[in-house]
Amino acid sequence: MCGIVAYLGAKEAQPILVEGLKRLEYRGYDSAGVALLGSGAIRVKKTSGRISALESILGNFGQGETLGIGHTRWATHGEPNTINAHPHMDYSGKIAVVHNGIIENYETLRTWLRSEGVEFVSDTDTEVVSNLIGYFYNKGDGDEKSGITGGQSRFEWAVQRALREIYGTYGLAILCSDNPNMLIGAKKGSPLILGVGAGEYILASDASAIVEHTTQAIYMSDNEMVVVTPKGFYTKTINNVAVTKDLKEIEFSLDQIELDGFEHHMLKEIFEQPKSLATCMGGRLDPINKRIVLGGIGNHFRDLTRTKRLILTACGTAWHAGLVGEFLFEQLARIPTETEYASEFRYRNPIIEDGTVVVAISQSGETADTLAAVEQAKERGATVLGIVNVVGSSIARNTDAGVYLHVGPEIGVASTKAFTAQVAVLTMLAIELGRRRHISSEDANYLIKEMALIPDKIKKVLEQSAHIKEIAAANLNKNNWLFLGRGLNYPVALEGALKLKEISYIHAEGLPAAEMKHGPIALIADEMPAVFIATAGSQYDKIMGNIEEVRARGGRTIIVGTEGDENIKNHADYLITVPDVPELLQPLLTVVPLQLLAYHAAVLRGHDVDKPRNLAKSVTVE
Ligand code: M6R
Repeated sequence: MCGIVAYLGAKEAQPILVEGLKRLEYRGYDSAGVALLGSGAIRVKKTSGRISALESILGNFGQGETLGIGHTRWATHGEPNTINAHPHMDYSGKIAVVHNGIIENYETLRTWLRSEGVEFVSDTDTEVVSNLIGYFYNKGDGDEKSGITGGQSRFEWAVQRALREIYGTYGLAILCSDNPNMLIGAKKGSPLILGVGAGEYILASDASAIVEHTTQAIYMSDNEMVVVTPKGFYTKTINNVAVTKDLKEIEFSLDQIELDGFEHHMLKEIFEQPKSLATCMGGRLDPINKRIVLGGIGNHFRDLTRTKRLILTACGTAWHAGLVGEFLFEQLARIPTETEYASEFRYRNPIIEDGTVVVAISQSGETADTLAAVEQAKERGATVLGIVNVVGSSIARNTDAGVYLHVGPEIGVASTKAFTAQVAVLTMLAIELGRRRHISSEDANYLIKEMALIPDKIKKVLEQSAHIKEIAAANLNKNNWLFLGRGLNYPVALEGALKLKEISYIHAEGLPAAEMKHGPIALIADEMPAVFIATAGSQYDKIMGNIEEVRARGGRTIIVGTEGDENIKNHADYLITVPDVPELLQPLLTVVPLQLLAYHAAVLRGHDVDKPRNLAKSVTVE
């Protein structure tokens, strides 16, 4: 939710900032801007719209200047117009700020600053930050000498002083016109990384804006700030206590975030799944020695094996993966499991008995609700594990232990390869726990063997992309769709509906197929598309009944069935097949055609699938 980038070095800053903003654009794209510092003054250019709109007004702006900050916005406070776009200057014109996060007490602070004569021009919470820093910078706090120690500049002091007044979340990059060689970054609750190159520094919301320049970085922690000058950088807390940070290697490369010949990141990521799943399972799923090794869980495997109750918590697509996990943990390991929306869990005063294990699932590792659920669970004494993609992210750092997805950066706003990897990790965990608690070694080994074959089987589904595009085209004029599945394929139906909604803006509902008759069946008429996941398995006959109920009422059936099932052809207006796999592993395959269906529908409708309206990749607001 918003991307920030800043540069200090020997090169011209403007093109580096714009390039960085393009890499971060998936985080928000309703307005953008840059501020450059040179000749003792800060100059700002910003506009509503995307980075391309900003680029078109920049020209030679900031030519020759080597220090600057940039921002791409996902609006929270104030409509996405030019005035509300970042960077925000303070009232004195000396301080410029870009911000990712939310200032919760901005109204109180704004009222106070106004009473002190400070004028505001935007509707944003961020302008409180620039004005508060500017206020302390210009006026002190009446007792400022006690705060300035060890040669600290007035700029640093003012930033610290202001941040101590702020409640909420922030990733900040800040400039001060009186300090033409200084860039300050600060973090609380929103990600911030400092890339450290040869004589240059890039501060950014995530590593995608950095890897082009350097793979060495420090990951900032909450309540820390970094002061960068041409001579180097130092880190400290906002209470001015020095902090030593280790340089870490950024774990992904530039080509992982390039389009690589695909039209969109989403399509690239759908097609990457055979490889990403193989990487996710690599070294963990061992069909030769018949075992599963999830090293990240370490000693907590004992807590998991003994637990009387598991709570899985997540949002959106990750929550759907959790629902698949719930089914598997109960089925294979006989552990009572609930999957909770993190946004509900955190406010519900949940009951967490001794020995409860909470597992947070998140691609970004930065989702505010999931992070808050993690904190809530920890406060109540639960062991909290994470299933996270982004290495070093807030959820990864705030959990007791966990498993990384290792699928590389997911850039498309609609989550695809992260979902299959989340399901794969949950499946591996459930099989291993199952072996320790409930199922036989033979059954576990069979699942391990079959799971190792999944990446190749996904390739067979991907081969049907052109056929799926035809199905999307034939149903493009339909504005209401149903997605129906039973058992493990019910969460897949939810995921299929979410994918279609979020990128094609077609209304879609996912349902357990048997629930249809309790109400939603009233919607079926006029060849309404009903997408059924009707693969071979224990619920096959039941779902065939549901399919016929739809057909009898004039609905159109788009069926995901099992290869070689001749019978199903008689029930389908459109058929997509997936190779046969054990029922417990089906979600890893059955979701893939639904991802493709949504993708093609969105492209055919003319939408920008990587940047769907009103959405952002990581939701770092409540
Ligand atoms: O980064 P996370 O996995 O925590 O994100 C959770 C949801 O915001 C995310 O899955 C969202 O629903 C996606 N847009 C779905 O495609």
